[in-house]
Amino acid sequence: MDLKQLNAFIAIADLRSFSAAATKTGLSQPTLSRLLKQLETDMGVELVDRYHRPLHLTEAGVFFYDKISAILTEIDTVTSMTQRLSAPSTALNIGFVPSVLYGLLPEVIAKLKQSNPDIEVNLKDISSYQQIEALKTGEIDIGFGRFAHQDPWIQQILLRHERYMVALSKAHALAHIDEQRLIDLANNRLILYHQTHLPISTTTQPINTPISNSTNHIAATDKSSSRHKQSSNEQPSLEPVTEPLLHLFAQYGISPFMTTTVSDLQVALGLVAAGEGITLVPASLKTVRTEQIVYRRLLHENATSPIYLHTLKDFVHPKIPDLLSAIYQVYERRGITYRKQSFTLQR
Ligand code: BEZ
Repeated sequence: MDLKQLNAFIAIADLRSFSAAATKTGLSQPTLSRLLKQLETDMGVELVDRYHRPLHLTEAGVFFYDKISAILTEIDTVTSMTQRLSAPSTALNIGFVPSVLYGLLPEVIAKLKQSNPDIEVNLKDISSYQQIEALKTGEIDIGFGRFAHQDPWIQQILLRHERYMVALSKAHALAHIDEQRLIDLANNRLILYHQTHLPISTTTQPINTPISNSTNHIAATDKSSSRHKQSSNEQPSLEPVTEPLLHLFAQYGISPFMTTTVSDLQVALGLVAAGEGITLVPASLKTVRTEQIVYRRLLHENATSPIYLHTLKDFVHPKIPDLLSAIYQVYERRGITYRKQSFTLQR
């Protein structure tokens, strides 16, 4: 068994066609077919059922595909990390989610450049989830995101928790109330914008006695607009609530009356400005579109969005300790509460 055979099998399995796999890999169809046959002969197992179109994997093929594709991804990660170790890049490539750009990221970069005037920093707007893959491939050296990730290659530092605020149009009936309760917002259309959802294992039970008759398991929907209200005799579905804002409401036993899902935070705030609904955003966003939008505090202390710093466990870019110290200096200057942490190089 060799890597060529395994890569041929993965291409065929991904594309379910010898001709598409040949185009993707740049190999001829007879070569691909020969590599697959050799692999099957070596293993003594039929992996691909060739008698159906599109091609099907056999049951053994499905098992082998799942396991071997994870191993091949690891090989790619190790190869890319080894290359970086032997020739570390001088530039620092930073991945970030848009909400941290509105917050302290520009100030942090300015601070880092004060102590490292020659540093080259590249910023990439990339979702929390995609940051994990980008770290492994070497596309970025560090990621700032809002979600914890359990991944054997990644170490994460929780930088701080940022309070969520309610964003309402200035004309909204609740706009004048300084401190808001989630239950009072439940009759509004809630605009959802997160690209990354919570892992199912972190979803929890409601925090206190339910205020409405719904639970934190709501009818799941991917539709851009949907009603969540349940009639009194309707059974809630058992699907866990993984969308972060819905999850927050669900922790208080609240299911917003209606939701609209949009592609990003800017669009969400655009809809709020147009009076199409309300949303919750981290406090750093409170200076955006203030001609049309007011931002109000939430009474609930746990209504926060965390900020995580992610990097690889085995390869910490030499400038990352300076970056962390720049972050802590910014926090100290602004009086932001944080718990100091440092990186460990685990080998
Ligand atoms: C923060 O808002 O805490 C933050 C944002 C970007 C980078 C580091 C920290």
